[in-house]
Amino acid sequence: MNRATLSKQVNKEMIDELKNNTQALLSFLQNQNDGTIVYVLEKLGHLENGYSKEPLLNLLNNQNENIRALAVKNLAKMSDISLLPVFVKYASKDESTKVRREAVSAVGRLRNEKAIPTLINFLTDSDPKVVMQAIRGLLVFADRPDIKQELKKLLNHSNELIKEVINKEVNGFSYKSNNSQKHDEFPSFLRNTVVQGDVQEVLKFVPDESIHLTFTSPPYYNARDYSIYQSYAEYLNFLESVFKEVHRVTKEGRFFVLNTSPIIIPRISRAHASKRYPIPYDIHPLLVKMGWEFIDDIVWVKPEASVKNRNAGFLQHRKPLGYKPNAVSEMLMVYRKKTDKLIDWNIHQYNWDKVKRSKILDKYETTNIWRIDPTFDRIHSAVFPIELCNRVVKFYSFVGDLVFDPFAGSGTLGRAAVNLDRNFFLIEKEAKYISRIKEELYKGNNLFNSKNNQPNFVDIKTFISLSK
Ligand SMILES: C[S@@+](CC[C@H](N)C(=O)[O-])C[C@H]1O[C@@H](n2cnc3c(N)ncnc32)[C@H](O)[C@@H]1O
Repeated sequence: MNRATLSKQVNKEMIDELKNNTQALLSFLQNQNDGTIVYVLEKLGHLENGYSKEPLLNLLNNQNENIRALAVKNLAKMSDISLLPVFVKYASKDESTKVRREAVSAVGRLRNEKAIPTLINFLTDSDPKVVMQAIRGLLVFADRPDIKQELKKLLNHSNELIKEVINKEVNGFSYKSNNSQKHDEFPSFLRNTVVQGDVQEVLKFVPDESIHLTFTSPPYYNARDYSIYQSYAEYLNFLESVFKEVHRVTKEGRFFVLNTSPIIIPRISRAHASKRYPIPYDIHPLLVKMGWEFIDDIVWVKPEASVKNRNAGFLQHRKPLGYKPNAVSEMLMVYRKKTDKLIDWNIHQYNWDKVKRSKILDKYETTNIWRIDPTFDRIHSAVFPIELCNRVVKFYSFVGDLVFDPFAGSGTLGRAAVNLDRNFFLIEKEAKYISRIKEELYKGNNLFNSKNNQPNFVDIKTFISLSK
């Protein structure tokens, strides 16, 4: 029976009636199928200390682990210390790790000093989620030096989530901001500025924590003509050093969206194979190591007719191993500068008016597949479609923010920023693309509505003097 049918058959009034009549609940739970029992257990709601435990205790020997886990969960609502031995029994002996986790959580929810030795015992459990529940229970008593001492023992635990929680809660570790500027502000010399120069040089003069959002598509190794690297390792080193700087200049807890895709370097002759480089997968570990937290992967899908056809051979011969799919996707990898602050903290840095004006009220893509036609440009061979920039800017920044593209190309991100009431900061090394940016930004010519909001095109020397 599906949940919609169940909700009609077992409605709220019926559940309330069962709750008020222990005998009725007892016999109901004995005579129903598993799906109905699970449904009722999920809907039982608040249970007072003193509520009859029998119907739930009866279910602890049920064959179905979901029923046992839910029975424990409901018993835990009663905050009844007499249940401690029951919880300990199921936490230690149940064959299902789900039930064990729920039982350790129940021990913690008792919030009673008598539960402390049990919780300490579970700190050495082999299931990290059980350990996590024991930690949660003990954090209630974290002011006690003996408890703190026990928790500190987990600082070198092999599980990364456990280490993080202990670091934060017990060791007082937090990813600190060293910027006194308000979160929604940024250095004014960066406002709507386009610098012509090498990104590594220019970034040296950008102050710590000045950027709200970076969205970029870096050069594609040697796949296009604008970037020549001696080796793939040198290319990755270059990107690593640029993205470390992007990390430094990004504000606490803010986002970095990176657009890349695997590339192919064609073979030199029919006697050789072409080589494919999985750029997104090779960059990812470097980003995590330097302090970016992985948030999401969005797949940008283009129409098949717009990409290079690799099927000609296979279409003819149809032999295994020779299959070459047409690459219609690119990755948008979404990262957040690692912090112990929640997203809510970031949102609270803005006044209500700004939050309201930044809301995404129109229809939006609900999946991580973004179908967007590519844009072809007569000057630049790899420009962002404006729609791609619009989405990223809307989803990951607020009105008035500073959005940054270190490899600006034709400056599509700048245009999106202005259209959406944000500010931009762009770096691009090639003069011909700088001219393109000028053309693009002035195209609509009323993009800039006031004098003090005009774009500022500078070379590196001028930029350095502005930064002082
Ligand atoms: C993939 S394109 C970006 C296109 C851009 N997203 C757009 O919408 O037009 C990469 C850009 O990075 C620039 N670039 C490459 N190496 C650079 C460097 N060391 N410093 C600054 N820009 C660089 C290239 O000239 C190229 O325009």
